[in-house]
Parts: sequence; C-alpha cells; structure tokens
Amino acid sequence: MSKVIEDILENALREIAAADSLSALDQVRVRYLGRRGALTAVLRGLGQAPEAERRAVGQAANQARDRIESALLARRARISAEQEAAEEAARAIDVTLPGRYPWPGIPHPITRVTRRICEIFIGMGFEVVQGPELETEYYNFQALNFPEHHPVMDDHDSFYVGEGRVLRTETSAVQIRTMEKRTPPLRIVAPGRCYRRDPVDATHSHTFHQIEGLYVDREVRFSDLKGTLALFARKMFGERVGVRFRPDYFPFTEPSADMSVTCFGCEGGGCRVCSGSGWLELLGCGMVHPNVLRNVGYDPEEWSGFAFGMGVERIAMRLYGIPDIRIFFQNDVRVLRQL
Ligand code: DAH
Repeated sequence: MSKVIEDILENALREIAAADSLSALDQVRVRYLGRRGALTAVLRGLGQAPEAERRAVGQAANQARDRIESALLARRARISAEQEAAEEAARAIDVTLPGRYPWPGIPHPITRVTRRICEIFIGMGFEVVQGPELETEYYNFQALNFPEHHPVMDDHDSFYVGEGRVLRTETSAVQIRTMEKRTPPLRIVAPGRCYRRDPVDATHSHTFHQIEGLYVDREVRFSDLKGTLALFARKMFGERVGVRFRPDYFPFTEPSADMSVTCFGCEGGGCRVCSGSGWLELLGCGMVHPNVLRNVGYDPEEWSGFAFGMGVERIAMRLYGIPDIRIFFQNDVRVLRQL
C-alpha cells in the first residue's frame, strides 16, 4: 500500500514542478487532492484496509497530503511571482526608444503662397481686404465695365445662382466694393476663392484662388504699376528675376498688360516649366479704367490708379513644381507633406 502512496506522491510532485500556470497547478491539485483525487481515494479506502496496516497507511497518506499541499503552496507562490515580474517587465518604459513625434499641421501650400504674396504687398503699404464669394452680377461684371455680351458672362462660363447673383469669377469685384466704401488714396490686396465653369483638367479647376490688387491716388502712373509689380516679383522670386510687360485686354483697365517673369526653372534659357519660352506669365494688370472710377463716384480727372490680379494656383504650381492643379484640391497629406 505504501508503494502506491509513494508513487502518487512522486507523480504529484513531478506534475506540480511542471505546472507553469496557476490554472495548470489547480488541475494538479484536483487530480490528487480533489473529491475524486488519487490520494483522496486512498484515504477513503482506509476503512477497508487490514487492521494492522490501517495506522501506517493512514500516516503515510496524511504525510503525502501534507507534502503535496506544501509543494502546491510553494509552486503557487513561485508562479505568481513570475507572472508579476513578467507583467512588470511588459509595463516597463524603454527610455532608449526614439520619441514619438506628434503630427503638426502646416498651412496648405495655397495658403502659404497667398500669405507670402500678401506680406510682400503689406510691406509696400497695401492693406488686406476681403469680399464675398457670392457676388451680385453688378459687382462681378457691370461695375467692372464688362461689355454687355462678354463671353465670361455666358451661362456656360459662370455659376449663376439666380436673383442676379453669381459665384464671383474673379476677385476684381472687391475693387468696387472697397472703393464704394472708402475715399482715396487707397492701397489694397484682396485674396480669395473664385469660380468658373471650366471643365476640370491638369490646368483648370472650377474653384481657384486669386489675389487682386488696387492702388488709387492722385497722379498714379503706369511707371508706378511697373515699379510696384517688378519689386513684388523680386521679393517673391529673388533679385535676379527679370520682368516683362506686354499689352493685354481687360474691361476694367486701360491700358492693360500682362506681366511675365523670367522662368525660375531655367532663368530664361527655356525649359519644360516655361515650355521653352524662358518666361512665365504671372498676372494681369493695368491702369484703372475711367468708367470704373466713375462707377464708384470717383472723379477720373482727380484720381487715377492701377490694378492687378494673379492666380495663386498657377504661381504655386511653378514654385513647387506641381504639374497638376487638382493636387491642391485632392489634399492627399502624403503629397502635401512634401511641399
Ligand atoms: N481679373 C483678371 C482675371 O481673372 C485678372 C486681372 C487683370 C485683375 C487685370 C486686375 C487687372 O485687377 O487690372 O484674369
């Protein structure tokens, strides 16, 4: 009989030593000391044992139970300590890991270019003003001296929303709104969103941004326009940039011109950015048309001025070397991050 108990004890101690979790350990306990456990069975069977053996067997079985119990206790303490150590290690901070960088936002490239341009004009005494994107047809067209049947006034080119209103096709209307409210001299730039019914492709977007400029004072001359815009170009693109003015037509200026700068890809030699011409057309400009001055109640004999307008996307595309205007509106952060 004591051989049986010895075997039970030996097996129990081996299994206890092998148990590697509290639940595995508990299963061992149940197998040996539980209600149907191996040792329990021996203790229960004591009654049937021969009288002479009963005492010795009982003693051996109780000793075996004590040893199993203390082995269980010791093993449980050990496993708990190991588990705690492992959890502790998992929680530990590795101070040698590199820091985790937050992802700071940056202004959109269109915003950055707009700000840069405005800052340059602020430096020349201009003030930033804004006007509504939903304009009246009067401010968007008639007040700007557009002739009755100008193509941009066509339904196919502008977004009309009814009741004499249109999404502004250019920022020029801000000229009118500002002059109506103020008396000269005035110097303003007006950045903002504009809309045209252009089919979207690599160089056209139904929504785009312009910056308008206006300077009205006594005896403003075309040379003031040239000097101001040439200085702007140098501040924007560097001292070496060359500028060129060529005649153009806009209803609200007379004479009208467009200004080009030497290509900053090739500095005038001719490259892909400037399609080989060496020049990049940057903006439209001109002397404010007397009719426009009259429309806001200024006497063209007393006041004169110049105005200009430029497309922000076009400038930003060249500055950042972006071939497709849609990139500005898709707002894929993977792309914007690189700009
Ligand atoms: N509004 C013109 C455009 O959208 C740009 C422009 C040209 C604005 C000449 C002006 C100007 O103020 O004088 O193409």
